[in-house]
Order: sequence, then C-alpha cells, then structure tokens
Amino acid sequence: MILQVKDLITRFYSVDGVVYALNGVNFALNAGETLAVVGESGSGKSVTMMSLLGLIPQPPGKIEGGQAFLFENDKPQDLLKLSERQVRRVRGGQIGFIFQDPISSLNPTMTIGKQIAESMIEHLSLSQSDARKRTVDLLKEVGIADADRRFDSYPHEFSGGMRQRVMIAIAVACQPRIVIADEPTTALDVTVQAQIIELIQRLQKQLGIAVIWITHDLAVVASMADRVLVMYGGTVVEDALVEDLFDNPQHPYTIGLLKAIPGATGLGEERLESIEGSPPDLLRELTSCPFAPRCQFVFDQCWAKLPPLISVTKHHRAACFYDVENEIPRKEVEHG
Ligand SMILES: Nc1ncnc2c1ncn2[C@@H]1O[C@H](COP(=O)(O)OP(=O)(O)O)[C@@H](O)[C@H]1O
Ligand code: SF4
Ligand SMILES: [Mg+2]
Repeated sequence: MILQVKDLITRFYSVDGVVYALNGVNFALNAGETLAVVGESGSGKSVTMMSLLGLIPQPPGKIEGGQAFLFENDKPQDLLKLSERQVRRVRGGQIGFIFQDPISSLNPTMTIGKQIAESMIEHLSLSQSDARKRTVDLLKEVGIADADRRFDSYPHEFSGGMRQRVMIAIAVACQPRIVIADEPTTALDVTVQAQIIELIQRLQKQLGIAVIWITHDLAVVASMADRVLVMYGGTVVEDALVEDLFDNPQHPYTIGLLKAIPGATGLGEERLESIEGSPPDLLRELTSCPFAPRCQFVFDQCWAKLPPLISVTKHHRAACFYDVENEIPRKEVEHG
C-alpha cells in the first residue's frame, strides 16, 4: 500500500451555506495499480484528490477531518498535516497530476520546455543543461515531434491533445510514485482520447507508477483499471476489483450505473436505464444513507445512519446495509 485515505471530510463555507462535499472518504492505493474513480458529477471525486494535493482553496474550503497517509519505506506521512512547503514538494515530486483542462494548469507566459525543466530542477536538483536534455527526451517520449525545437514553444502554440501530452510529461517528469488523472481526456476528441489513454498506460508500465484515474467512462474503466471506487454524495459507496464490480456489483447505486450502459451487466440489458431521482443535497449534513431517497431496497436502518463500507469479500466492500443478492440485511463487519 502506498496511500491510505481515512475518513476524509472536506466542506465549503459558501454564501449559500455549508457544502458538505466529502463526508468520510475511505480508500487505499497499492503500488503500481490503476484505481479508477467513478460517480456522477458532484460526487466529490475532484475534491478528494484536491484535498490530498493541498489544492483546496481555504477559504471557502476546509478539510475538517481525516488522514491521508503516503507511505515511503513503510514510514507513513499524513499529507493533511504537511506545511505548504512540504506539500509542494510532494505535489509534482512524489505525486504527479493531470487535470481535465491543461490550459488552466499550464503557465501561458512560460515556454513548454521551461515548465517541464523547472519542476525537474526543483524536485530532482538537476542542472539547467541536464534538465533541458531530459525534457527533450521526455517530450519525445510523450509523442511530441521535433522536440528540440518545441522546447521553446508556448502553450497557445499547441493543440488541446498536445497540451495534454505536455501535462503528462510534467506529471511524470520527477518520477512520481503516483499520478492522479482527473478526467484527463474529457475535453479531447475520441481519437486523441484513445492516444492519451494509451500513452499514460505505457508510461505507467514503464515507470511502475500507480495511477488514480477519475472518469465518467465505464468503458475506459473496464479496459484499463485494476480496481474501482464508486463515489456518491461525497462518500465511497463501493470498492472492488474491476471484474468483481462488473460481474457482481453490490451497491444499489453501482447496479443502477451499470444498468445505464448497454450490455455491461451481461444480462442482455440493451436498454439505457438512468437512475431515477436527483443526487443528494450537499447543503445538508449526511445523517443517513445518501442513496436512500433513490433506492428501491431502502429499509429502516438506511435512514438511521450513514452506512460504513462493509466487507463483502476480501477485496470487495460496499457501503450498504442490504445484501441485494441474497435479499437480506448485510452483517456489518467494518474493515479499515
Ligand atoms: N470552491 C468550491 N466552493 C463551493 N463548493 C465547491 C467548491 N468546489 C467544489 N464544491 C462542491 O463540492 C462538491 C463535490 O465537487 P467535485 O469534487 O468537484 O465533484 P466531481 O465528483 O464532479 O469531481 C460539489 O457539490 C461542488 O459543488
Ligand atoms: S443502505 Fe439502504 S438505502 Fe442505502 S443503498 Fe443500501 S439499501 Fe439502499
Ligand atoms: Mg470533477
């Protein structure tokens, strides 16, 4: 295990009131694996990752609870307790990140090459000339033709796909152990999307990086993830190996999600079914199962408290009091 997030709670004190964005997020990441994170818009995927990277604007945001241990030589350091300077060293050093929109992540006034080289000078203490050489190699590696000349280009001279390649180069430049990719291909057209996915997968294998991949696209999940987290209402509602998630989903929300893609359940389900009802109101504190108002299996216990992640098998957990398969309440054995 290289990262363990426990009971992460993040809120925003907005003019409309308190936004209960994260309500106790729990997950772990193993070395070298690809962990996909899925869930509808507003479920807390980005806020989770930004909390870990020290990127929550405070105020209005506030991390109000939890721990996020990054393990190095089995020695854990809690990312939530680091100073601004320490967290900057982790960000881009041990943890690289790629966001949906490369334009807002790149500095428009600095050349592409300089932006990559700078992080290597900062994190790896390379000399100017070594950093330039490695940057050119890296630009070639991520598929930028004529890399030597392109070193001196500015972000606006690049297409969206090329800019995302540059972001990937920055993310892996300092040999991180983890790369967090937050919907990295959403803004790109389908062909470029496929190329970017391929590129990240190749670099991941080559460099032995663990990747957290946030996506809307369950087809991408099926083709590349080892394990999947399903988020709902600022909580993790299911955590499973990818094959278990698709073959044997345990949480009613996951079951609903999978029914929404044709053929995904293997039940000959060809009809597109979307889940009825609306997502939870995050302006209220969660005191019951966030899915209860939309759940066909809801019973008394669901209204009484927030369900914890309950083990189904060794590598499969669901935050649900009901065992849909056997049509009985689930025995509540929590595992950390
Ligand atoms: N700066 C902010 N101020 C107020 N609310 C925010 C802010 N950033 C995120 N949120 C809220 O936090 C919740 C989770 O958002 P987010 O993590 O971005 O969802 P997603 O799963 O789509 O990535 C949403 O309700 C969102 O409106
Ligand atoms: S805990 Fe209850 S309401 Fe929530 S998903 Fe499970 S059965 Fe449905
Ligand atoms: Mg998001």
